[in-house]
Amino acid sequence: MNDRIYVDSPMVAEPKPFDFRESFDFFGDTDFISQAPSNAIDVQFSKSMVELQDACHPLCMDLMKLLGMGLELDDEDYFVRRSKWLQDNKSPSYKTFRALYYPAIPENIEIPVGQARVKEHSDHGFITLLFQDDTGGLEVRDREGNWIAADPIHGSIVVNIGDLLEFWSGGYLRATKHRVLIPELEIQKRISRQSIVYFLHPDSQTTLSPLPSKLIKKYHFSSILSGDFAEAKLAGVKSY
Ligand SMILES: [Fe+2]
Repeated sequence: MNDRIYVDSPMVAEPKPFDFRESFDFFGDTDFISQAPSNAIDVQFSKSMVELQDACHPLCMDLMKLLGMGLELDDEDYFVRRSKWLQDNKSPSYKTFRALYYPAIPENIEIPVGQARVKEHSDHGFITLLFQDDTGGLEVRDREGNWIAADPIHGSIVVNIGDLLEFWSGGYLRATKHRVLIPELEIQKRISRQSIVYFLHPDSQTTLSPLPSKLIKKYHFSSILSGDFAEAKLAGVKSY
């Protein structure tokens, strides 16, 4: 995916009951702002989003390098080299920058069983950077299956491992299951929640093949293009 696309609706059909949220996504390169119809998006809002996205890039590079070191790869820049979009912003990638808004829940509406602000899931990509406000509500699942509140810490960014990195590392690194439930306390239902997420993804032409790491003992795949992996995920393919 290398075209300039902006959407204000979920990329895939929501399972029922739908998640109680709104989202606004950026894909691909960011030149679209100058070309988008002026009434399509708020230009200042979009510029701010792009500035924040660009400001994330040094952190993205550091995190990719740290992952290379953590996996004891000979080339600690292994992942950085496969993310040219970090430098030129033109290389096709499924990286996505998303603004998420969870509205206050109106009084006197019936919440269907199973409805959440975001149901349990893991993110599709490599890693995700999450900026959350101080409202709270995010929970992450540990290896024993327990849900733990990821309470906001001022000045911090949550980093989640995504499905692609779990796959690429042969399961050595686990994708983080997470969710945001409808608050049980009435007073908390009346508070909206805002977050911004950056889904990092390697270049679409990157071949995902077994990583040169002695920490990873077993692989169950030979190779797949990063872009093909992403498309399969979006199509709902569960295994490869
Ligand atoms: Fe997520």
